Amino acid sequence: MNIGIDKIGFYTPDQYVDMEKLAEIRGVDPAKYTIGIGQEKMAVAPLHEDAVSMGANAALSILDGEDREKIDLVLFGTESGVDHSKSGAVWVHHLTGIQENACSFELKQACYGATAGIKMAMGHIALNPDSKVLVIGADIAKYGLNTTGEPTQGAGAVAMVLSSDPHIFALDNDSAALTKDISDFWRPLYSDFAFVDGKYSNESYLSFLKAVWGVYKEKTQRDLKDFEALCFHLPYTKMAKKAILTLTEEANEEDAERLMSHYQNSIVYNKQVGNVYTGALYLSLLSLLEQGPELKEGSRIGLFSYGSGAVGEFFSGVVQADYKHYINKENNESLLNTRRELTTDEYEAISEKALPKDGSNIEINNDQVVEGRAYLAAIQDNLRKYAIK
Ligand code: CAA
Repeated sequence: MNIGIDKIGFYTPDQYVDMEKLAEIRGVDPAKYTIGIGQEKMAVAPLHEDAVSMGANAALSILDGEDREKIDLVLFGTESGVDHSKSGAVWVHHLTGIQENACSFELKQACYGATAGIKMAMGHIALNPDSKVLVIGADIAKYGLNTTGEPTQGAGAVAMVLSSDPHIFALDNDSAALTKDISDFWRPLYSDFAFVDGKYSNESYLSFLKAVWGVYKEKTQRDLKDFEALCFHLPYTKMAKKAILTLTEEANEEDAERLMSHYQNSIVYNKQVGNVYTGALYLSLLSLLEQGPELKEGSRIGLFSYGSGAVGEFFSGVVQADYKHYINKENNESLLNTRRELTTDEYEAISEKALPKDGSNIEINNDQVVEGRAYLAAIQDNLRKYAIK
């Protein structure tokens, strides 16, 4: 029985900052951001958007009545959780109208959270072939104004329905993982902003990639020639270029060229959104599937998931016949193309706004919320209240 991604959708807030303009006010050569880092636009979350509302909106873009009846597990990967106790999955379950007899919970290991959800979903479906599982990766990446991490911020969510006999992508049942207690990136409970040792985080990412790729090759006897394309966790799009160059150091020209040509399609969406932490790898997969030429049925794609701190995993899957019929390119392109550009002053003002942390109540104006979308409507008596407009 094949198990894998039956549906995949994404969501990002409807406002962004242009990276060239941000570079200008930071006194940096714009090419550093657009070429050196590889980002064109950076999504900025308004106060009424958080990991929960974005996760719900990503899910609302793909779920139909049958999914709502069959989903019996909701897995929410995030490192931007909004409550130490209640999981984002419970709110998403409610906001998306999934049948009551489901389990819902949150998973955390930095950007690896959604991959943990996928692994768990595979096991659940193997035991319950009629079940469907909703897996979400939703995050807001924030390093703060005037930091070196600033151009690698972003906001958004990816939602996937996993099932048996999936229409889009069947996952292979083999992978290689690595866990090491390191401090490359972290966010203490009291901080809205992540702390990062930037250069070390890049090095760690690549050394985890090399290590798990080596183990994966040994376990499966597969090599680069067996992969039509590779997708990577994308903190910024240049990272995947470094990753491909690392893996193809000793590859033949044909493999290196094929992998690099698919790389261009796998970064189209991430380039316009920025880092979405748990969702970033899956946004890249979606970008490849929607923006690239139709891949032959059975083409194998390798995936590298990296969650700082750190856990890395290399795994793979194969595209299904007619997968292009089950994705929604027009919808996703329109989501990106109808966003509003923020001036850099507006961006800075939004970045400095924060929800109250002293227990006071707040009602959030929903004038900017698009009809049919989930949003954070209020905080009352220390409780977040979400609504659908
Ligand atoms: N034209 C073209 N390229 C230029 C340029 C110019 N004028 N000026 C600089 N560059 C290039 C540099 O050569 C460099 O390229 P390489 O990396 O290929 O050498 C690139 O632009 C970046 O320049 P710097 O290394 O000088 O940049 P920096 O010190 O300002 O920081 C960063 C870059 C480390 C990525 C920083 O933005 C950061 O800390 N970001 C957050 C952490 C992060 O994303 N880490 C990634 C791995 S960890 C992970 O993946 C988990 C996660 O999601 C956080």
